[in-house]
Amino acid sequence: MKILGIVGSPRKGGNTEQLTRIALEEVQKEGIEVELISLAGKKIEPCTGCGACRSTGECVIKDDFEAIYDKMVAAEGFILTSPVYFGAATPQITSLISRCFVSRRKKRVFDNKVGGPIVVARRAGKNFTYAQLLFFFMISGMIVPGSTYWNVAIGNDMGDVVKDTEGVETIRNFGKKLAWLAKKVNA
Ligand SMILES: Cc1cc2nc3c(=O)[nH]c(=O)nc-3n(C[C@H](O)[C@H](O)[C@H](O)COP(=O)(O)O)c2cc1C
Repeated sequence: MKILGIVGSPRKGGNTEQLTRIALEEVQKEGIEVELISLAGKKIEPCTGCGACRSTGECVIKDDFEAIYDKMVAAEGFILTSPVYFGAATPQITSLISRCFVSRRKKRVFDNKVGGPIVVARRAGKNFTYAQLLFFFMISGMIVPGSTYWNVAIGNDMGDVVKDTEGVETIRNFGKKLAWLAKKVNA
């Protein structure tokens, strides 16, 4: 089994990445393989709505999307994470989500995979962004576990987020639940 942590921050090693590593650490402790994929420095154009994938099942845009998408399809689950940018998810993570539209011809490629969102902010927009990412999991037929709070944490400067003890604890508990769920679903 494998679970990915896809980090939608353009800042490598930033708060979102650190929190994602914490979640993956808990998953790994349960004997599940993990991989962190940072979108920082990757080129993922947003979907242009050209409709080509409707007939071909392929996206005409050639960039870093395809390799990540293949890993998402192959994995038993994935976490999508983002810092809050102007009250919402980053263009990096929303571009990735929009391009997953390519799967519509391939019949429910994410059905019954496990996953969930993680969000970091300096102050405001966490719940909105959490919901924004959650929409993707729910429409994709994925199964999302809860935690001891919503998967949100506070931080601004690099590394600040680890000082949010409740946030870190919530993410650890989410990682544990995700591993538990992955084992049940794939038993
Ligand atoms: C362009 C931009 C917009 C931001 N907008 C918000 C915002 O609306 N609300 C908020 O609380 N923090 C906002 N922030 C702060 C980031 O969410 C915060 O610094 C976060 O920890 C960055 O995560 P990272 O280190 O993973 O990139 C913004 C930061 C940037 C660069």
